Amino acid sequence: MLKGKNIILGVTGGIAVYKAADLVSKLVKQHANVEVIMTEGATKFVTPLTFQTMSQNKVHTEMFGLVSHFDVEHISLAQKADIILIAPATANTIGKIANGLADNLLTTVVMASKAKIIYAPAMNTDMYNNLIFQENMNKLKTLGHKFIKTGVGRLACGDFGAGKMAEPLEIVDYVINSFVKKDFVNKKVVITAGPTIEPIDPVRYITNHSSGKMGYSLAQEAKNRGAEVILISGPTHLRPPDGVEIINIKTTSEMFEAVGKHFDDCDILIKSAAPSDYKPINASPIKIKKGSSDEDNLEIKLVKNPDIAEYYGKYKKEQIMVGFAAETNNVIEYANKKLKKKNFDFIVANDVTKPGAGFKNDTNIATFIDNKGNIEKHPLMEKTQLSTLILDKIYDIIDIKAR
Ligand SMILES: Cc1cc2nc3c(=O)[nH]c(=O)nc-3n(C[C@H](O)[C@H](O)[C@H](O)COP(=O)(O)O)c2cc1C
Repeated sequence: MLKGKNIILGVTGGIAVYKAADLVSKLVKQHANVEVIMTEGATKFVTPLTFQTMSQNKVHTEMFGLVSHFDVEHISLAQKADIILIAPATANTIGKIANGLADNLLTTVVMASKAKIIYAPAMNTDMYNNLIFQENMNKLKTLGHKFIKTGVGRLACGDFGAGKMAEPLEIVDYVINSFVKKDFVNKKVVITAGPTIEPIDPVRYITNHSSGKMGYSLAQEAKNRGAEVILISGPTHLRPPDGVEIINIKTTSEMFEAVGKHFDDCDILIKSAAPSDYKPINASPIKIKKGSSDEDNLEIKLVKNPDIAEYYGKYKKEQIMVGFAAETNNVIEYANKKLKKKNFDFIVANDVTKPGAGFKNDTNIATFIDNKGNIEKHPLMEKTQLSTLILDKIYDIIDIKAR
């Protein structure tokens, strides 16, 4: 998500420095190029070596160090930054920047840069509530600098209150979000994700291998791009993205009803769940015991579940519907049939037998087929990247319809 982005991470002298190492690792995982500038205070807590190892880049600590090639470091860093992120941001550094001081490499780079400046403040509650700090923060906000909300909790000093630095995952989400175009504002997007489970008896059920990763990633992307997102999810182990309305369901019938509640006023329905097509005709109210059948075989009769996509595909008006076809053979042929039968605007087809494609992976290999007959084959990519392409394709359809 952050490929090609240059992020300067300013690390200042607060106890939350230890979390900044994890932050670097998470930013690098998103393919960002991270250059760390540490204040002298920060180096008292953690050595530059930690950040050098995590970022795979030289760590900058000195303003007046001799350089091997002629390059005024604070100017070149300032110019190449897409974002300057300061985490943890001490009251001291925020105060200096708010008052125009440039007495170390970090504050000088901030002064010399046109990049977006984002702070993840971290400090003791009394420091945080101090009116001097609040005034400095408000002044910077009016100048367009961004502040990631601090949490309330137990602080390293033992106090309980505001001033706890946001978690690295939240900070990464914030950074990703600030690069994303907001082309889905005022759009309501309903996304189904994960498997469903159909009870056989109170302790057993039928399910499938769907992890929900694709749907959750789509929900994050739609949210980032400004949409109102309703995520209707079967049981998964995933953390729902912040700011998304999550509706947890278990069975296909429950998913069918949940979609019904939001379908009429949604703009887009993305059906990335893998609901069970069949369910046991009569789930036993008590546990089925071994030997309760005379035979060695136990027969469980199944009955068809409602076909969510087909039902709403017939009923849709202006909504854009996107479906998925996870196939093991004749992928394009089956996906095409499904596209027509369910009245999708386009379908994302993938061959789940291919390495890197399918249910539990973080990656997928997809082909888009739309209702105009266009076929787009995509290479192996992360599900997060695929989510961007799916939302881009939906945006193109909205754009064409609006013309
Ligand atoms: C153990 C310890 C923990 C500290 N934690 C914080 C903190 O979380 N937030 C903060 O604003 N200052 C904290 N300070 C104070 C800063 O280190 C101090 O204000 C310093 O001048 C900051 O310099 P810098 O902003 O250039 O890194 C702490 C100091 C010590 C000794």
